[in-house]
Amino acid sequence: MSSISSFSSVLSFVLVFSSLVLTLQVHSHSSLHKTLPAVLAMDSSKAGSVKEFRAGLDEDTEEEYASQSKLLQEFTSISSIDKAWVFKSKSGIGSQAMFSISQPNLLANKKRKYMLSSSISKVSNNNVNFQWAPFPVEMTGVSITIPSPSGSKLLVIRNPENESPTQFEIWSSSQLEKEFQIPQSTHGSVYADGWFEGISWNSDESLVTYVAEEPSPCKPTFNYQGYKKGVTKDKECTSWKGQGDWEEEWGEFYAGKRQPAPFVININSGKVHAVRGIEKSLSVGQVVWAPPVEGIDQYLVFVGWSANPRKLGIKYCQNRPCALYAVKVPLYKSEAAESDLKSLEELNAVNLTQSISSAFVPRFSPDGKLLVFLSAKASVDSGAHNATNSLHRIDWPADGKPSSSTKIIDVIPVVNCAEDGQFPGLYCSSFLSKPWLSDGCTMILSSYWHSCQVILSVNVLRGEVLRISPADSGFLWTVLTLDEDNVIVVCSSPVDVPNIKYGCLVDKANNTTGWHWLNVSSPIFKCSEKVRSLLSYVQFGILQIPVKDVSDCLKKGAAKAFEALFVSSKVNDAPAPLIVVLHGGPHDVSLSTFSKSLAFLSSIGFSLLIVNYRGSLGFGEEALQSLPGKVGSQDVNDVLTAIDHVLEKGLVDPSKIIVVGNSHGGFLTTHLIGQTPHKFVAAAALNPVCNLSSMVGITDIPDWCYVGSYGTNGKTIFTEAPTAEHLTRFYNKSPISHISKVKAPTIFLLGAQDLRVPVSNGLQYARALKERGVETKVILFPNDIHPIERPQSDFESFLNIGVWFKKYCK
Ligand SMILES: *[C@@H]1O[C@H](CO)[C@@H](O)[C@H](O)[C@H]1NC(C)=O
Ligand SMILES: *[C@@H]1O[C@H](CO)[C@@H](O)[C@H](O)[C@H]1NC(C)=O
Ligand SMILES: *[C@@H]1O[C@H](CO)[C@@H](O)[C@H](O)[C@H]1NC(C)=O
Ligand SMILES: *[C@@H]1O[C@H](CO)[C@@H](O)[C@H](O)[C@H]1NC(C)=O
Ligand SMILES: *[C@@H]1O[C@H](CO)[C@@H](O)[C@H](O)[C@H]1NC(C)=O
Ligand SMILES: *[C@@H]1O[C@H](CO)[C@@H](O)[C@H](O)[C@H]1NC(C)=O
Repeated sequence: MSSISSFSSVLSFVLVFSSLVLTLQVHSHSSLHKTLPAVLAMDSSKAGSVKEFRAGLDEDTEEEYASQSKLLQEFTSISSIDKAWVFKSKSGIGSQAMFSISQPNLLANKKRKYMLSSSISKVSNNNVNFQWAPFPVEMTGVSITIPSPSGSKLLVIRNPENESPTQFEIWSSSQLEKEFQIPQSTHGSVYADGWFEGISWNSDESLVTYVAEEPSPCKPTFNYQGYKKGVTKDKECTSWKGQGDWEEEWGEFYAGKRQPAPFVININSGKVHAVRGIEKSLSVGQVVWAPPVEGIDQYLVFVGWSANPRKLGIKYCQNRPCALYAVKVPLYKSEAAESDLKSLEELNAVNLTQSISSAFVPRFSPDGKLLVFLSAKASVDSGAHNATNSLHRIDWPADGKPSSSTKIIDVIPVVNCAEDGQFPGLYCSSFLSKPWLSDGCTMILSSYWHSCQVILSVNVLRGEVLRISPADSGFLWTVLTLDEDNVIVVCSSPVDVPNIKYGCLVDKANNTTGWHWLNVSSPIFKCSEKVRSLLSYVQFGILQIPVKDVSDCLKKGAAKAFEALFVSSKVNDAPAPLIVVLHGGPHDVSLSTFSKSLAFLSSIGFSLLIVNYRGSLGFGEEALQSLPGKVGSQDVNDVLTAIDHVLEKGLVDPSKIIVVGNSHGGFLTTHLIGQTPHKFVAAAALNPVCNLSSMVGITDIPDWCYVGSYGTNGKTIFTEAPTAEHLTRFYNKSPISHISKVKAPTIFLLGAQDLRVPVSNGLQYARALKERGVETKVILFPNDIHPIERPQSDFESFLNIGVWFKKYCK
């Protein structure tokens, strides 16, 4: 009955497939338990004589539902680290770190955020000691925390939930020093979205610049006499506000957010200034202070995105043109200072990156001589929503006066096709705020490398890129922060909960440097004994899947093998049922990371085949660009090739294959159950793209329907008024064109507030399946957007996916 009890024979697991994996290795857990822990016996108290079951389940299923939900909760409660900072210790010995951590709070349907500190003492290159504070402290209502450069002050920002003011707090090591309320008439919420977001202290720690929502535009006011002229501030009950002009937003995730604009706050007086000299049509983000120059006004450097011709969806889409700008700001030392700047001309923002279609994440080197930034020009120029990024540098003028004719130097160019084992290109969308080693010209960053994420060191003067995390570890490495020339990272795999590692740069005698990685024990990723034990029965490896029709590949890079992660859950000697997992995008990647929901599915007895079909990030530009124009065929065939690969190796039971995917992965899921109806016994689709011809008119990224269906050409064909011919092509490329063949019982998880793939796409497809007598189940989350990740929704989604799959795959 219970899926879990079938694990009793898991002991016979042997490393059957280590020899089948062509490159990387399989991770085995040396500690296979000798007996099954008692915790596996699930609570299965009967529902008694109750005839009606909640959630539309029959009696058996309800029991499954109850037992799985208990296990899923244990996975859900595992914490994650969002950020970390390191401070020089006051005693001068060692350093101190603060970790910002979050944990889903199911009952409140929010993330609980807390802070945990540790003092670090590096005993030697082989020994580091983290002394953790006894308890974490919850950060209720805090949106952002940013320490000052010297580490003596901490800025805490609390965004309002409604129309109340934004709160800025300045903390010292002992107490709250200052507190300011910034009214809505000055600006709205401070951006804390990880994209437009930018908060920067100046060097003498008197000013902070940041990005916040512009104040609401004035709306027309009417009263019993009709329209009221001029601006009124009164809130009388004898008048009402009209709507005024509709203002376009940045689409998915940004619903209701007003234009991002830069501000400067004087943290002594609390006075806030809006930065002037920026065109109205620019949305501003990622603002930083340029290095100070004695005697002249300071500059800010920021990223600007133009609203012309319209704002297309920007979340997950790096192909929106953007440029770096520098703008002069007064020192704001006195009230009169601002009016000292006589000519407004002088204040106009300077475009620093006119020769390149994309520039973002500006970072100055510690000496202020270099300005380094990322570019997604490959993505902007091709129309693919993500592509291989490049890294560039501007030598900052010594007089501190930037100009638009500044030369842009390439540091890491776009990699089209890498030789085997070589750097596949830069897949990184942000940097730490202080990414520099003490040499002042080497940055540490995380970047995707095939299905893994690795740590790179980049010498920005020489353009030298080194992978400093161990080669072929198969793990996912994420840099959290630097501790002088040491690196604090988080490391995980699909079957290993994250842990912290401490990397030390060691000089080797023979004139080479290398990195030594030390394990750090921490209380942060604690998980239950049951979870730990279930995971110890699961193994994972990375498969290389040769491309089937190499003759179709116009470019060398497109003919190279792609990868799939194989997580093996083996029961008896018989292969476990298989879940094929497909990521969205399509220009995204399933990394070899610990995923609570996937670890849950593997621990209830499913093997997972997580396919990074061509078009995924991390494999070079030629492989990525081979997909646009061929969606629904090349990607579908890659997935089928990967399935055949594991079938040929005898790793899975061909009669028990299931598929799940979100967004473009949902597009592939519904394509697969339509194109190869006999292959799959069940399916799950989260906010799937089912019908591009209906999506094009309502999504925030109609351009993608063109690029996906026509290839890079689609960028020029794109119009807001699709022709009948366009719609026919979209229809033919879509899963909807295969719906008459579908047999697999399918569950749909839909977010009603999704602006990327509006809910009507999934709903209409689900209704059409039902009409054809295919078993379908729909769960609609009224308040979720494209990723269904609010704690309760994520929980209910994966619980139902688990139960649905168990039902059709006994
Ligand atoms: C700055 O340069 C970029 C890149 O060429 C361009 O797209 C943008 O329109 C320019 N900005 C302004 C305000 O001219
Ligand atoms: C440098 O020394 C290390 C051992 O300390 C050795 O593994 C490595 O191969 C040497 N490198 C070169 C280039 O000689
Ligand atoms: C050490 O290696 C660097 C290049 O990696 C080279 O420029 C330098 O001359 C070498 N130094 C010695 C002492 O061999
Ligand atoms: C860190 O832990 C891993 C796995 O537990 C182990 O294989 C490795 O040897 C440890 N590394 C060090 C430097 O102790
Ligand atoms: C682009 O890549 C980022 C990760 O770098 C990912 O979060 C996002 O979903 C990707 N977008 C698309 C459209 O693939
Ligand atoms: C697909 O989209 C077209 C164009 O909007 C629409 O006419 C058709 O009804 C849709 N079909 C389904 C089943 O979603």
